[in-house]
Amino acid sequence: MKENKKNIFSKNFLWGVATSSHQTEGENKNNDWWQWEFEGKTKEVSGTACDSWNRFQEDHQLVQDLGCNAYRLSLEWSKIEPRKGEFSLENLEHYRQILLDLKKRKIKRVVTLWHWTLPLWLVKEVEGWHKEEIIPFFENYCQKVVDFLGKEIDLLIIFNEPRIVLGHGYLKGIFPPGKKNFWQFQKAENNMLKAYFGCYDGIKERNSDLKIGITQYCLHLKYLGKSKLFKKIFQKIEDWYNWNFQQKIGLKQDFIGFNYYKAFGFRFSWPFLINLKKENLASDWNWGFYPLGIEKIALRAKKIFDKPIYILENGLADEKDVLRARYLKEHLLALKRAKDGGADIRGYFHWSLLDNFEWAEGFWPKFGLVKVDFKTFKRTPQKSFFVYQKIIKNNSL
Ligand code: BGC
Repeated sequence: MKENKKNIFSKNFLWGVATSSHQTEGENKNNDWWQWEFEGKTKEVSGTACDSWNRFQEDHQLVQDLGCNAYRLSLEWSKIEPRKGEFSLENLEHYRQILLDLKKRKIKRVVTLWHWTLPLWLVKEVEGWHKEEIIPFFENYCQKVVDFLGKEIDLLIIFNEPRIVLGHGYLKGIFPPGKKNFWQFQKAENNMLKAYFGCYDGIKERNSDLKIGITQYCLHLKYLGKSKLFKKIFQKIEDWYNWNFQQKIGLKQDFIGFNYYKAFGFRFSWPFLINLKKENLASDWNWGFYPLGIEKIALRAKKIFDKPIYILENGLADEKDVLRARYLKEHLLALKRAKDGGADIRGYFHWSLLDNFEWAEGFWPKFGLVKVDFKTFKRTPQKSFFVYQKIIKNNSL
């Protein structure tokens, strides 16, 4: 049967792109990542990144040119609270100007409160998420942000991908604080949960209309054998990996946010784990092209939570921009199938608007619909930019 590629989503659907503060703003010298970079633990240092702190209007113009009605960005805690208990009105005001500029362009503001960076003073004081003392500091930061900027936020994401940041920081040791300690990992996750509840309740008391949630990194795991029992077991493992945090949050989230990049197949012969790739296609980083995964995950989210769903990141490293257009089309088509299957999908955010600082990898993985020259900061839309623009304009593939 031919798939219907018209009217893929409803009129109010959020068509978006996403970025984060440390990856784009530049000169975030006052956080743990900056220190980590200067200790030589990343392939490159973030430096001025995309200079988006100063060039936000240019970035917003690109979002507008794309035809997006939503933009996901994050706030930098170390800019907002540069010293313990001292909030920078100047930087809060700068963020307000950023959010107002988006509003002027009729672009909804999807704001992440924490996308992985901690202020240096905080790290000195409490080390990191494994220490319970971090909770009141985070709640205080959250309260300040919502008091100051709450009116200009349309959707609030408290945490980006707790599983990835804690796994990399506390099990693999490749992100700050560079630990390999399962107990500290567990403690850190518990503390994030507690902080989440504190923030959720605090915000709802004062601003009950604000929609709040998190976004989790989700992967699709497929059992490649025939046994129905093993299929069920692998579904359970996938559910635990993907949804464990959000299941613990339970009713205190207004939507389910997820980010999708990869899928794996498992079998009982070597190699046990296979990077699933449709037609053997993959990104520059060898992450498999597997659109079916996003459909499966969205349907699973519907089954488990039955809440509005936002895909808050999905994209690939593709410097030559040879696969991105097809990636966009096929992932959106897969999402349409999930929608037709009953998933209440409210928005899609492509990662990323710009090439940016890709954490431990430095600048080489290029995720941008827009290419960035990191010397001149010139932004150049890629071919796929215009493909996404057309999809949004016609609401069809
Ligand atoms: C993170 C982004 C990152 C992207 C690509 C996601 O896990 O939220 O910050 O750039 O993956 O690696």
